[in-house]
Amino acid sequence: MDSGIALVGVFSLAVAYVTLRQRSSIQNIPGPPSPSWIFGNMLQLILPGEYGANEFAWLKAFGAVYRLKGCFGTACSFRIILRYSIFSIALSSHMDPLKKTGIDLIFAEKCVMAQQGDTHKRLRAALNPCFTGAAVRNFLPIFEKVAQAMTAKFEESSGSEVDVCPVFSEATLSTISEAALGYPMQDLNKDFVAYNERLLALAVNLSPGQILSDAISVRLPRWILKAAIHLPLTTFHIIRTAKALAKELGGKIIREKIDVARQGSVAETDVFDMLLDLGNPEKKKNALTLDEIVDQTGILLVGGQDTTSNTLAFGLLELARHPTFQDELRVEIHSAIGAASGTPVYDNMPLLNAFIKETLRVYPVGAFEERIATQDTVIPLAYEIQTTTGKIINQIPVSKGQVLHVAIASYQRLESHWGEDAHKFRPSRWLDGTVYQGQAIGPYANLLTFFGGPRACLGYANPEALQCYS
Ligand code: HEM
Repeated sequence: MDSGIALVGVFSLAVAYVTLRQRSSIQNIPGPPSPSWIFGNMLQLILPGEYGANEFAWLKAFGAVYRLKGCFGTACSFRIILRYSIFSIALSSHMDPLKKTGIDLIFAEKCVMAQQGDTHKRLRAALNPCFTGAAVRNFLPIFEKVAQAMTAKFEESSGSEVDVCPVFSEATLSTISEAALGYPMQDLNKDFVAYNERLLALAVNLSPGQILSDAISVRLPRWILKAAIHLPLTTFHIIRTAKALAKELGGKIIREKIDVARQGSVAETDVFDMLLDLGNPEKKKNALTLDEIVDQTGILLVGGQDTTSNTLAFGLLELARHPTFQDELRVEIHSAIGAASGTPVYDNMPLLNAFIKETLRVYPVGAFEERIATQDTVIPLAYEIQTTTGKIINQIPVSKGQVLHVAIASYQRLESHWGEDAHKFRPSRWLDGTVYQGQAIGPYANLLTFFGGPRACLGYANPEALQCYS
């Protein structure tokens, strides 16, 4: 991408790891005081009670660029306006060491999320076609079947209080299991389902101790962490078992599919079928090996489950808070179903689409993402800022090795992009021309909820992702 591309977005970048030797210009960027040397601003950022309480106040107080302290006084963070090309190439293609370590421990070695560079590019080239609009439309009967089962569950408990989260979580696991593996959830090994749930519970169990142990573990040599995973601790037991069960499940499914194909019946209905491509004797250029396909099992199931179910839960919460909108949406859905001879055309339902976009804007499941600068680079700012020494700058030099947080939630509350009432849930902003219409920054609706660049969410039909490599 050339450097003439317009400045298109605002990001919050939090440098979570800077060695003491690294001198960085971000030290002079204004920001809130750090209440603790051990935690820096990280407790305020990550555990404020309601997410964003401090982050959105900092956004208001310091504007688009500010500095935060990370754990042990070494880390800084700042909020910044940058070019999409810089964002996608310099930042988004490499994960920060902490996240990479976590992914390596939790998921199989060859899974797409654990890969970097050319291997990542090759895996995405093989996986992307399984998630295009056309491919996903083939899964509609699965979505509808699961939605009907879920609705029946809610209707059964009508009149009493229902915790919707486990119902959504089961529904999304059912959907992905069938769409990705061709395996209905009831056929999944019970242990697999139970450990999958325990693994997801670990991921959301944030505490000061967890934040500290993350900050320490990122500074430890990789071999220590790889050895530590074998210690007899509950957390490590859950991770080890979930990873082994996912691998076992993937292997079993692939053996079954190969056996069925040998008997002359080849299906092309789910993601694994498409990856195996057993009906095609000539292997495609980017075809994955059997081991590589097996290693996608865990990431597909975990990556798609709670992300989707939490989004659904927040959407439902907002429908409960906005009964008039809920009624209007119901009318639109009923009339689309009534008018359609088969499946309604979802793209022709403006209220439904506005509702989905607004839910994804206000409730991005990953409030911020982390990336590492793989080379010394300079982040250009769209607006000049004044440093604490009084200097006016329009770019920030970033050293190789700095870990940066992209503050998705803050970007999606920017008044300049989403209107003066950006903190409010208001689906009509998508219909009345309020929202920013400039160059798209994420793959869907200009949102960063599915991130952007080559590592944007695989689950979002995203053929553009690979273009970001060039
Ligand atoms: C509302 C639903 C979802 C949201 C908000 C979401 C969000 C995201 C985000 C922000 C990332 C980037 C993470 C990072 O690089 O640090 C990501 C990556 C990923 N997502 Fe999703 N996701 C959703 C659903 C799904 C589904 C349904 C699947 C698969 C069935 C999926 C599979 C993946 C995979 C495999 C990656 C890693 C891609 C790579 O590293 O190249 N996601 N997702």
